[in-house]
Amino acid sequence: MTDTYAGAVEHTHEDFEDEDFSGPEVLEFDELAESAVSRRRFMGGALGCGLSAMVLGGTALSPATAKAAGRIAFDPVATNGLDTVTVPKGYSWHVVMSWGDPLWSNAPEFDDATRGNAASQALAVGDNTDGMYLFTHQGRSILASNNEYINRKIIFGNREGGKPVNADDVRKGKAAHGVTVCEIVQKDGKWSIVKDSMYNRRITPDTPMDITGPARGHDMMKTAADPTGTKSLGTWNNCGNGQTPWGTYLTCEENFHGYFSSSDKGFAIPANMKRYGIKHDDRGYAWASDDERFDISKHPNEPNRAGYIVEVDPFDAKSTPKKRTALGRFKHENAELVVAANGHVVVYMGDDERGEFLYRFVSAKPMSEGGDNSNLLEDGTLYVAKFTDNGRGEWIALTPETTGMASQGEICINTRIAASIVGATTMDRPEWVACSPIKAEAYCALTNNKNRGVKPNAGGDATPVGGPNPRKANNYGQIVRWTPDNDDHTAPQFGWDLYVVAGNPTVHDDAYAGSPNVTKYNMFNSPDGLKFDTTGLLWIQTDGKYTNKGDFAGQGNNQMLVGDPMSGEIHRFMVGPKECEITGLTWSADRRTMFVGIQHPGEKGDSHFPGGGDSVPRSAIVAVTRDDGQKIG
Ligand code: FEO
Ligand code: CA
Ligand code: CA
Repeated sequence: MTDTYAGAVEHTHEDFEDEDFSGPEVLEFDELAESAVSRRRFMGGALGCGLSAMVLGGTALSPATAKAAGRIAFDPVATNGLDTVTVPKGYSWHVVMSWGDPLWSNAPEFDDATRGNAASQALAVGDNTDGMYLFTHQGRSILASNNEYINRKIIFGNREGGKPVNADDVRKGKAAHGVTVCEIVQKDGKWSIVKDSMYNRRITPDTPMDITGPARGHDMMKTAADPTGTKSLGTWNNCGNGQTPWGTYLTCEENFHGYFSSSDKGFAIPANMKRYGIKHDDRGYAWASDDERFDISKHPNEPNRAGYIVEVDPFDAKSTPKKRTALGRFKHENAELVVAANGHVVVYMGDDERGEFLYRFVSAKPMSEGGDNSNLLEDGTLYVAKFTDNGRGEWIALTPETTGMASQGEICINTRIAASIVGATTMDRPEWVACSPIKAEAYCALTNNKNRGVKPNAGGDATPVGGPNPRKANNYGQIVRWTPDNDDHTAPQFGWDLYVVAGNPTVHDDAYAGSPNVTKYNMFNSPDGLKFDTTGLLWIQTDGKYTNKGDFAGQGNNQMLVGDPMSGEIHRFMVGPKECEITGLTWSADRRTMFVGIQHPGEKGDSHFPGGGDSVPRSAIVAVTRDDGQKIG
């Protein structure tokens, strides 16, 4: 093979997401003074404009108890570093599907020796499961799940140096990305794949897609293969998800930039490409070596066709997915859809990069009960959030009038640039947003940001300490929540506070110890996945440091917790296997099974989950049930 991959750097998923696309270091922020803030001041109201009011509304908790109370009825699990899934007493888990499991009976079972090839992978569950949703349709259970990326050292672990060595390897890696749609069934208490179901489908980076919305047909969307700018191929780096009341699945393109490279090292990378982190060097996937559209020097508009929310009909395996450009182009985490009181559809979305923004889309038309809502996400207004330190915030519309940009199409392609122009608040890496089912309230995991108060974002916007991003060099993360004015998710303004500020109270006694609802019993770092259950409990999944040392001592493997926003209490429900992240959560129709994603076990080489022994570690979706058969959210 060419030396395209020679410069590839192996790093963990958190490192990949956390890759530094920011500008040069600057130290002029007045706000750096705030970095010296103590935990006492942080909690005591002396910080800035009364931050204590921003934290939990002063909820009193009992940090001395490890026992769950109130509405959370299980014995919390302790942290651990085991190579398995740990759930509370009275609960059980089993594997539903793993990377490489065949979806059709003409495909081979996963082979630990070869780890499959391009042909087998195209017929099998993709790698690195992420966001998912279980649909029920005509009495059948159809699970749509994202396959975010590949662990090259694992998928190519049979190759020298863990790198693709031929075109088939490159295509295998590509085919392991995208979305897996698959019917599942429960027999004797265990869920498994229904092979050959009419619903089974793999959506990959080569699946034809329609481009819809304001960017459709824009000059920046046109390529040699698609001179009309209306059709693209595929989706990749599908991170979190959303789902609509009209029965479609939303898959969110996150770190789409990492698959492009330039054969011409002299190619001048334009500013809008730089803003999204696109570089000359291949990052190890080698897609451009087999598929020229990933070579930016030859097809500079191709990256403009990725970085969107894609709407998929999970009930028609032959349907063409639709890229919804009206919802903007950035490193999409998830798409939390809520129908506002006035019937308009609101989608909240985070852009997961240090110092990037939080967005909201409001549909132009209201939803029609029982009517045709299939194009509701094609037309609407895109907003970006601006927070102020007094617990208030506003949504700023991104339009030609507010941004000075030439057209809505351009705004929907260069969305980050539009948001910078209007002065949106730079955030600590917005990951999943979740809306409460019992009140007008939304939550966003701000996973961490080592550049907070240290460096501007990739667009040069300052990242001052303050507001919902209260700590310099924030290595633990926090969850911000907001309540729209008048309980109306389409309202122009909102009030906000911090639901939890993660930290380590066994190591720190300042702001880095976390908020009062963080104790030595429930501590964690880097909240990422968020999902509400029907009872209004908030499930929190982590994608953080699992060294169990230093700042992270006592925090063990990545985990899933559940919080009661009414009381502020948070308890640990699950600990994942070694070197994994927990991401993706959905329920069976009867709410008696919870499905949880275990992504990248053994990403550094130290796991054999789920097979044990000497088996290859494989990303997997597990089902969790209660031994007494009762509901689980
Ligand atoms: Fe794919 Fe930001 O998580
Ligand atoms: Ca994530
Ligand atoms: Ca993450």
